[in-house]
Amino acid sequence: MNDASNLSIFEHAEVIEKKFAARIAVLSAAPEGRAVEDLRIAYLGRKGELSSLMEGLKKLSKDERPRAGKVVNELRGKIESELETLKIKVRDWQIEQKLAAKALDVSLPVDSMGQGGSLHPVSLIRSVLIKEFRHLGFSVCDGPEVDLDFYNFSALNFREDHPARDMQDTFFIQGQKGMILRTHTSNIQIHTMLKEKPPLRVVALGRTFRCDSDMTHTPMFHQVEGFIVDNNISMAHMKGVIDHFLRAIFGANLATRLRPSYFPFVEPGAEVDLECIVCHGKGCRTCKHSGWLEVGGLGMIHPNVFEAVDYDSERFTGFAFGFGIDRLAMLKYGLPDLRQLFEGDQEFLGQFPVYV
Ligand code: FA5
Repeated sequence: MNDASNLSIFEHAEVIEKKFAARIAVLSAAPEGRAVEDLRIAYLGRKGELSSLMEGLKKLSKDERPRAGKVVNELRGKIESELETLKIKVRDWQIEQKLAAKALDVSLPVDSMGQGGSLHPVSLIRSVLIKEFRHLGFSVCDGPEVDLDFYNFSALNFREDHPARDMQDTFFIQGQKGMILRTHTSNIQIHTMLKEKPPLRVVALGRTFRCDSDMTHTPMFHQVEGFIVDNNISMAHMKGVIDHFLRAIFGANLATRLRPSYFPFVEPGAEVDLECIVCHGKGCRTCKHSGWLEVGGLGMIHPNVFEAVDYDSERFTGFAFGFGIDRLAMLKYGLPDLRQLFEGDQEFLGQFPVYV
């Protein structure tokens, strides 16, 4: 082995480069995260090979230093770039390993004695909601996911220039003026009220879309919309219905809170928060350190909505609510990140029951 002290700085740099290339070749054949980090420390760390070269630089004369400095810098650049490439290789390799471990051979015959399928958490909550609302005498309706702005916004008292439109992060359909992906299931209020006359007791569950993604938001999510229109409907009826279905999902021990809020289609309006399941109200990343997670909005139907569907707002009153089904599933099953629901991970989905 060469003794670095007897070598010129150029020879020393060459030795380091060769040694590094040999280590990289070994690691490229069997990439491993920890070993890459060890290699980085050995060459670029404070006491690494490169710093010994730098020490050597200090001993050179002023004339020799620029040329040697260039060689050392080039070597540093090369080592950094090769380590970066290797890091990417390790990451890709780890992904491949994960995928290989979870590979599904869909051509294999079904194992009839094996573990059966399970219901998706959103389907489980949907089933409970449908069952409970049917018990309360609600009929279950449906409505279009691709809809006109009129049903999603205008008829719900969102004026053309109203800032509340921006809060909904709408996906527009290209080349189809006025067509959007519905941002909430409240469009079903308008479709239903234009078709039917009061008394109404309706619930609708479906997919909704917004350009939004983080731990508690996904671009596609599910809502349950409910509304009652009749004579003398009050906030007290609304509270009774909400308490009933939340208790059906979460049981009696549930901390809830109602916060006054604004939706153009109700007056007064409020938002419903449930205690964060991850931190039990202490504050964490999932609940953005508030201790609460918003699950829905509600309120008494605005007279302008009744006018848009030609109902007599002097005669009828009603309430409406819209809850995020995925958020309810998140809280029910203690999921720290809503996006888990849409990753299709077999192991994750396999934990849920087969029936409600
Ligand atoms: C609405 O969508 C209103 N239509 C609710 C409503 C209906 C109010 C009837 C009054 C009367 P909001 O934008 O707050 O309101 O959404 C309602 C719920 O949907 C939220 O509380 C949350 O649980 C869920 N939600 C909203 N955006 C997302 C998202 N990107 N990902 C997952 N869930 C979401």
